[in-house]
Amino acid sequence: MTTTAPVIAVDGPSGTGKGTLCARLAEGLGWHLLDSGALYRAVALAALAAGVDLDDESALARLAAGLQLDFTAAADAGIGVHLGGEDVTERLRTEDCGAAASRVAACPAVRTALLARQHACRRAPGLIADGRDMGTVVFPDAVLKIFLTASAEERARRRHKQLKEKGMNVSLAQLFQDIAGRDERDRERSVAPLRPAVDATVIDTTQLSVEDVLAVVRRLVRERDLKTGTTHV
Ligand code: DC
Repeated sequence: MTTTAPVIAVDGPSGTGKGTLCARLAEGLGWHLLDSGALYRAVALAALAAGVDLDDESALARLAAGLQLDFTAAADAGIGVHLGGEDVTERLRTEDCGAAASRVAACPAVRTALLARQHACRRAPGLIADGRDMGTVVFPDAVLKIFLTASAEERARRRHKQLKEKGMNVSLAQLFQDIAGRDERDRERSVAPLRPAVDATVIDTTQLSVEDVLAVVRRLVRERDLKTGTTHV
């Protein structure tokens, strides 16, 4: 009999604090971390670099299937991403790449092509899976499913602050429009639309700090008595 490693699925739109929550959970539990958004961003980046039309589904799926992607520990303790041997960590995080990723992610063939890669990340002692469809499609048997939400206004404010800290001057109104547009595309697409699994715990983070959210999730983890790779959660 094979035993499968446990998964904690964390889904929700961008700007809800998913990335930070997942990194802190993975560190505390000593589990692996899957940033599935980076996969869609990498397909988008590879398509833009190769001049592939973002509406050409079969060409996108071929790119997704053949992606030479490596995740490494980055200098700032985050995760670094190499595409075909080139460090693309920063380029993946741009607004343009995010917008293209949202279009790429709407292609069913791309989603199918990335499934095996995501399943391969499930290794002992466990996996924290960050995305949009972790609890509904990729890991429906996750031991814990969290769905984070926050108002679009608050998410735009958080993104604006992040970009300002990096010295980038983007208008708040433009960010809000982009976020609302991307949310709508992610929610309305026919395959794996953004929605909480029926058995997910939904947490609205609009008024909550990272520590507040962590406290709620850590309580849920303790209630499930999950085996950790380290001694503290
Ligand atoms: O989380 P992110 O901003 O890096 O995601 C980039 C895009 O990829 C976003 O538009 C949603 C999409 N995505 C998805 O459809 N399914 C996932 N599991 C993760 C991301």
